[in-house]
Amino acid sequence: MNECINLGKYPFYGADESLEDEFIADCRQVYRRTGICELPEFILPSALDILAGEASQWMDSAYFCDNSHNAYLDTPDCPKGPGSVEHTMERTVVGSIPYDRIDPGSLLNQIYLWDPLKDFIGRVLGKSPFYRFSDPMGACSINVFVEGGEHGWHFDESEYSVTLMLQSPEQGGEFEYVPRIRGMENEQSMVGSVLHGNRSGVENLPFVPGTLLIFGGKQTLHRVTRVSGPTPRLVPVLCFAEEPGRVNSEKVRKLFWGRAT
Ligand SMILES: [Fe+2]
Repeated sequence: MNECINLGKYPFYGADESLEDEFIADCRQVYRRTGICELPEFILPSALDILAGEASQWMDSAYFCDNSHNAYLDTPDCPKGPGSVEHTMERTVVGSIPYDRIDPGSLLNQIYLWDPLKDFIGRVLGKSPFYRFSDPMGACSINVFVEGGEHGWHFDESEYSVTLMLQSPEQGGEFEYVPRIRGMENEQSMVGSVLHGNRSGVENLPFVPGTLLIFGGKQTLHRVTRVSGPTPRLVPVLCFAEEPGRVNSEKVRKLFWGRAT
C-alpha cells in the first residue's frame, strides 16, 4: 500500500505511533467540527491511473437509475401544496458498478480490504468497533455519472459516507453543499431557499482525483451538478458499518443495481 496510498502525507499507518495518533486526532477534530474530512492526494498518481483503468473496464456493468425525490429522499404521496420543501422534487440520474462486478484481485478491492485504512476511517468517525459492509453489491461500488447524470439536492440516509474521487468529467459534476443545516431551527426555510436556487450558504468542494473524502451527509444538504462531456465522473464508494454482517435492504439493492440478489 506504500506505493498506492500517500502515507508520507497522511501518516495513519507505519509511522511513529505518536505521530499517527496526532494525525488521526487532527482528522477527527476537523470531521467533528465541519462534518467533512477531505484528504487530497491520498492516492498516489500511478495508482490513480490503475484505478481509473480498472473502473473503465467495468463500465458495462453499471446499472443506471433515474428517479425523483425530495431533499429527504422521500417521494411524498399526499400533496401538501406546491412549493413546499417536502414536495419540491429533485432529479437523480446515476449509475453504479456493484461490488460483485468488481474484480476481487483489483487494486480497488485491495484498498477496500486493507484493515489499516478501515481502522483509520473508523477512528476519524469515532466508531469502534468498525467493520466493512457485507453487502454483495453495495460493499464497495463505483458511482458513474455520464453525460446528463446528476444527483439532486438531498440529505443522506446514512450518517457518513467514504468516497474516493477517481475521475472528473469535462464539465459539471461539481459537489455542492450547505454545511450542517439539519436540525437547525430554520432548516426548512434554508432547504427551501436552496431548492429554489438561492446560492447563499452554498459551498463547492473541488473534485480533485486522488482525494479521499469522509463526509457526514446526513447533516449537510448536498448535490452533484449535471455532468457533460464524454468522460464519466467516477467515484468509488467504500461502505462500512458498526456491526459485522450489515447489508442493504432489497429495496435499496433494486433501486441502485436493479436486482435483489
Ligand atoms: Fe449523498
